[in-house]
Amino acid sequence: MDKLVERIRRAVRTRGVDAIIRALQVYHEGRLFQPTEYQKPFLEAVLSRERRIAVVSSTRAGKSTSAGIAGALMASIYPNEDVVIVSLTYKQAKIIFDKIHGVFSSSPVLFPLVSRLRRDLIELRNGSRIYTLTISNPESLLGHGASTLIVDEAASIPDDVWRTRILRMVMSPRNNLDPVVILLSTPHRRNFFYDAVTSGEWKVFRWTWRDVVKAGIMKREEVEDARRSMPDNEFRAWYEAEFAPLDETFFDMSVIRSLVRKDWRRREPVHLPGMRYFAGLDVARLGGDYSALVIIEVPRGFTASQGEVEIAAYYQMRRRKLSEVIGWARNIIEEWRPEAVGVDCIGLGGGVADVLQEAFGGRVRCVQAVGRNRLEIYGLLRRVIRERRIFLPDDPAFIRQFESFEVKYSSDGKVRVVKNPRMHDDLVDALAYALYVAVKSPLRVVTDKDLLDSFMEWF
Ligand SMILES: Nc1ncnc2c1ncn2[C@@H]1O[C@H](COP(=O)(O)OP(=O)(O)O)[C@@H](O)[C@H]1O
Ligand SMILES: [Mg+2]
Repeated sequence: MDKLVERIRRAVRTRGVDAIIRALQVYHEGRLFQPTEYQKPFLEAVLSRERRIAVVSSTRAGKSTSAGIAGALMASIYPNEDVVIVSLTYKQAKIIFDKIHGVFSSSPVLFPLVSRLRRDLIELRNGSRIYTLTISNPESLLGHGASTLIVDEAASIPDDVWRTRILRMVMSPRNNLDPVVILLSTPHRRNFFYDAVTSGEWKVFRWTWRDVVKAGIMKREEVEDARRSMPDNEFRAWYEAEFAPLDETFFDMSVIRSLVRKDWRRREPVHLPGMRYFAGLDVARLGGDYSALVIIEVPRGFTASQGEVEIAAYYQMRRRKLSEVIGWARNIIEEWRPEAVGVDCIGLGGGVADVLQEAFGGRVRCVQAVGRNRLEIYGLLRRVIRERRIFLPDDPAFIRQFESFEVKYSSDGKVRVVKNPRMHDDLVDALAYALYVAVKSPLRVVTDKDLLDSFMEWF
């Protein structure tokens, strides 16, 4: 068997992957597949059975396409090859699988090799098999061996799944050849993929937007549009193929996105039985331009650790005079009659809180988002998000605000929450204040120590 590997390596070296693609008549989107300059060395590494290959790349560079072509070639060239595509979601795995399906159904050379062609499984006469697995189904990965393992969007896959389930798949391949593990991803998060890329033990390919534009797969204008529409750190991950700096976003953006509901609608200001209503108000900073007010609804038994939060309504107002901000907030509070309103009292908010207190008394609470308090305020929101006890409106401007929050680790080991001064964060702040006053206004008597204990669990 090792003789076969030697022969393929020699063919790759002397004739190049182009010749192999031509000989096997590999088509892609109706034409003979033409690998780009950066896809070629990747395909050559796979066919030569490099054991560990990591592609850290710009979005839309052709990762999934290259992986699909590589999978089809491996199954065709090596007998009894188990090509397994692992992805976070079925949809993602299916992208690669469909490319492979396309290769076999369109190639006059490869099609006769197929003995079975299903929507999620291809079997070849040489004993090779190709199929997809999804990590969202925990059973699915067990008991499957792989000799070519393709992990797409690896940065999105949890570390424990990688360690306990995915890596095990390559322990005893059916054909006794050295298994090939291929990780492909944009570097939008640090996990085992980051470790692989930076370990020195993997053959790493890095594809940036420059390579992609040069190959004619992406237009320069597309890249410039993207650069303008996203924060710098995201652009660096999604287009420059650079890992985000060590300091992380405070909220897990993939969880946030999964909590978005298309059918979210602002509610009428009507109190439902068994529910409690709270508000948070963030007053525009000097130089900042929006004030925001968020109304939430929680069940009577709501605490930091239980009960779901509903965003009943949210409002923004472009900063005008402070008196206008006060009038605007006052109207909404009168309309919704929340039990308590959390207002940030640092800076301009202090004056607003004073005036509102004259109108609404003790229902207006001063929230000071500094020091330990600050971690507690945002930590509470993060916990509710992590535990999926909240749904979010399908409003990209709102959702994007969560990216503004980052964690900084200072040299003394303290964790701080910092905000990107160039991004908006008023709605998230107002939501965090509303939640904070909801937890701090328990129906039952809870001691400060209980609260402190429950907050300590999170860090
Ligand atoms: N070698 C190539 N020649 C022509 N088009 C390509 C090539 N590689 C990829 N593409 C096209 O580029 C687009 C992005 O490819 P895809 O594999 O989905 O990228 P990624 O997985 O990196 O986001 C797709 O439309 C795909 O068909
Ligand atoms: Mg892809």
